[in-house]
Amino acid sequence: MTQKIFAKANRLFSLADKLVKTHQVQIILALHEYFRNLYLEDPFVKKNKLTKKTTTPFNKINITLDNCIRYLETVKNFGYYPEKTKTKKHILTKKLFGVLWKDRLKDNKINSSKILDEFYKNNKSHLIFIKNKKVLDMGCGSGRFSFALAKKGAKKVIGVDLGDDGLKVAKKYKKLKGIKNVEFRKSSVLKLPFKNSSFDYVFCKGVLHHTGNLKKGLNEFNRVLKKGGKGFIYLYGSGGLYWYSRKKMRGIMKKIEFNLSKNILDFINIPSRRTIFLDSWYVEIEDHVSKISLEKWFEKKNFLFKKIKTNKNTHLESYEKFKHFKLLYGNGELRYLIEKL
Ligand SMILES: C[S@@+](CC[C@H](N)C(=O)[O-])C[C@H]1O[C@@H](n2cnc3c(N)ncnc32)[C@H](O)[C@@H]1O
Repeated sequence: MTQKIFAKANRLFSLADKLVKTHQVQIILALHEYFRNLYLEDPFVKKNKLTKKTTTPFNKINITLDNCIRYLETVKNFGYYPEKTKTKKHILTKKLFGVLWKDRLKDNKINSSKILDEFYKNNKSHLIFIKNKKVLDMGCGSGRFSFALAKKGAKKVIGVDLGDDGLKVAKKYKKLKGIKNVEFRKSSVLKLPFKNSSFDYVFCKGVLHHTGNLKKGLNEFNRVLKKGGKGFIYLYGSGGLYWYSRKKMRGIMKKIEFNLSKNILDFINIPSRRTIFLDSWYVEIEDHVSKISLEKWFEKKNFLFKKIKTNKNTHLESYEKFKHFKLLYGNGELRYLIEKL
């Protein structure tokens, strides 16, 4: 019974793929609906009858799949206008995130202090440690966590990223708010422009799985962190319907122009903070790591490590209590606090 959920998801993906040249708007809406229902709770969308009724992730996904398949089965009979351009413009990862950060800046959502508080809720020692320390935000994007870390009392935070647009947003926000203890530099996280042991604290959220060389990124993380230093790392886990679906959706969405998807999501009033759809549909590289292999790496590097458990309803680990967690989410998301011995 449970394995049938993969077969059902595959039906949705193959139907979407068949319609990708003719019914793009409907595919964007269907996959948006499916994606948001991979989460048990959606804090942004008003509840309808279906979401009120469903109490487990498995049921919610199962019912949503039926609905989305029915929807695409219906729209495939709708007429359509032929595409005006045949060539799809490819969007680069650093450009993709740049567009998303700009929207956040417009809405003044460039400080992620609340999310940071969630990470450290049960780990206050990290917050105390950060005070007066030199911190690296590895792959800082818009600097939203660099600013949050600076606010926690770091002596200096250096945010590093390859994306010009993200760095532009970060510098603009820094100037706007008159923040002194943050600095931004353009560089690859795979070859950081810092000497060994340069930082007391290294923060790296959601970056290394987009670089194409996760191992090298992890080694850079270790290289620039001092002995006795601490850090935070977030990587995508592996296995399960959730990660499988992201991969399949990426394959389909890449056949649809980025701007069309962005316009449609904007048109339905998506909040600028909700970058997850465009992010995972259009990112060039999304790698995955198993919990076991990451923890083995920590051990090899002599790191003490602790997996963060949050109750935030958009964090996959908050569903661990449900039946079929592994089938649906595999290793989930891997958020760790580490200490280098
Ligand atoms: C999902 S975003 C995360 C940004 C930020 N850590 C946050 O949580 O808001 C991924 C970031 O990784 C950056 N990135 C990808 N590959 C990189 C590389 N090789 N060197 C530096 N930054 C990179 C992208 O430009 C993007 O800003």
